[in-house]
Amino acid sequence: MPPDPVLESALRANAAAGLPAIDVAPNQGKLLYLLAQMVGARRILEIGTLGGYSTLWLARALPSGGKLITLEADPRHAEVARTNLARAGLGDVVDVLVGRALDTLPTLSGPPFDLVFIDADKSNNATYVAWAVRLTRPGSVIVVDNVIRQGRILDAVSDDPNIRGTRSLFEAVAAEPRLEATAIQTVGSKGHDGWLLARVVSRGPGVDCSEPS
Ligand code: SAH
Ligand code: DHB
Ligand code: MG
Repeated sequence: MPPDPVLESALRANAAAGLPAIDVAPNQGKLLYLLAQMVGARRILEIGTLGGYSTLWLARALPSGGKLITLEADPRHAEVARTNLARAGLGDVVDVLVGRALDTLPTLSGPPFDLVFIDADKSNNATYVAWAVRLTRPGSVIVVDNVIRQGRILDAVSDDPNIRGTRSLFEAVAAEPRLEATAIQTVGSKGHDGWLLARVVSRGPGVDCSEPS
């Protein structure tokens, strides 16, 4: 991918403001963008804004009239993100809502979201997915970041709250009949990680392609 001045200046502004460099890697940003376009997303919800790097990728995928709402607990992060988004000409497309997501999610209204990207505190991931199911429609897509963590997700006895949160997430999604999901692994400039990729079911579970008995 050729360098992109808008994305690069956002990363520079994040670093200058002292934000941690835990944005999605560029190849994952592009994947978010492609996915949003593939599903024809017009309304996107993001949980965990940081400086708005993933937000920029997602907002750029929207058609005119599209809307992205992103939830961020840290007012300083939200301020950096707003500046980055305004500089990209996306200030009117994106609403940055400040507050803990568990407090702001119940305030959301409007038509269902077509795509939800979850990338905040991992210990609440199962609850965030439950909210995402409520706020979407059949056919909507839900993506959760950081579910592989260099393979550390396989450690069933980990005491890391992020790993435990992600393991609970997988259990909750497996038990949720309104979702079909898998994990996709990614390798990029930020190492080996991956996404949970889920689709809100439209006609019950997928077609059973096993041999007839
Ligand atoms: N999606 C961003 C990275 C997000 S980093 C990108 O790829 O560019 C995770 C963000 O979630 C941080 O900014 C952190 O402040 C925020 N966060 C953590 N706990 C949160 C909570 N309970 N509610 C909302 N945001 C939260
Ligand atoms: C880290 C990376 C992330 O993408 C994230 O959302 C949170 C933390 C990390 O590398 O620590
Ligand atoms: Mg992440």
